[in-house]
Amino acid sequence: MKTVKLNNGVEVPILGFGTYQITDAGEAEQAVKEAIAAGYRHIDTAQSYMNEEAVGRGIAASGVDCKELFITTKIWVENVSYKGVMSSFDRSLKRLGLDYIDLLLIHQPYNDVYGAWMAMEELQAQGKIKAIGVSNFGVDRVVDLAAFNDTTPQVNQIEINPFQQQTKNIEALRKEGVAVEAWAPFAEGKNDIFTNPILTKIAKKYGKSVAQVILRWLIEQDIIVLAKSVKPERMAENLDVFDFELAKEDKLAIATLNQGESQFFSHADPEMVKWMASRKINI
Ligand SMILES: NC(=O)c1ccc[n+]([C@@H]2O[C@H](COP(=O)([O-])OP(=O)(O)OC[C@H]3O[C@@H](n4cnc5c(N)ncnc54)[C@H](OP(=O)(O)O)[C@@H]3O)[C@@H](O)[C@H]2O)c1
Repeated sequence: MKTVKLNNGVEVPILGFGTYQITDAGEAEQAVKEAIAAGYRHIDTAQSYMNEEAVGRGIAASGVDCKELFITTKIWVENVSYKGVMSSFDRSLKRLGLDYIDLLLIHQPYNDVYGAWMAMEELQAQGKIKAIGVSNFGVDRVVDLAAFNDTTPQVNQIEINPFQQQTKNIEALRKEGVAVEAWAPFAEGKNDIFTNPILTKIAKKYGKSVAQVILRWLIEQDIIVLAKSVKPERMAENLDVFDFELAKEDKLAIATLNQGESQFFSHADPEMVKWMASRKINI
């Protein structure tokens, strides 16, 4: 599979498998095992998804060597501090059944981001993490973090889909050497995305599905994309996006869908910051 090279040389498979909202342990284990069997080599989880242990069992059951896989997890807000990363990282590793993590992200731009970053730099220097990055950070916060530390984040994982295209932010992050990952490429089905007339028309033209058109649109921008499905037929469908290319007029048509705002919530909303700060997961 096509890869994206990070600013420290680490290569990331451009299409990854997302595991958000697969909370049932049996379902998460099965989904990860099936996703790897379907051909995914990049799996995205997080402490807050409460499924790291099941994801780890799915990885082990797949029979594929961890060295052939790219595994990401994320530090939840309550663990975002020097001590919080140092202790919770080991617990994440243990739950996942791994010796190292390919990519560790600060999940949200809150709490002691600087202390957490220092711990992540140390763990990376020890070889326990291949790449370190952030998620849901504004470009200004990324630049600030890079300015006062040795390591520029290798990745920023943000919401990107046809309704929230983030074109300027993507350009600005790349200018700083930060690779971009897209979460909720299908906007989790919001806003009738799968029956959107513009996307449906483009999909028909190529004999593809709306989901495939969206993934292709992201991949053609060299954006690392995470797609989630618990259904094996959709896992396979979402992987089958490397045999067509979108014409310029189709990309221009998709550009008109941009609403320029999140389909979910704003990370700058004080009420959301308070909610995230109060969400304790104790793991
Ligand atoms: N960093 C962050 O803050 C953050 C936030 C959200 C997500 N993420 C990551 O990004 C990943 C992807 O985002 P997401 O899971 O929120 O949403 P998503 O991938 O945009 O959408 C998932 C939804 O689309 C459906 N779906 C998948 N493939 C489909 C297809 N081919 N046709 C029709 N429906 C399809 C799935 O249903 P079925 O499962 O029933 O097929 C599910 O309901 C997550 O799993 C997670 O790893 C990160």
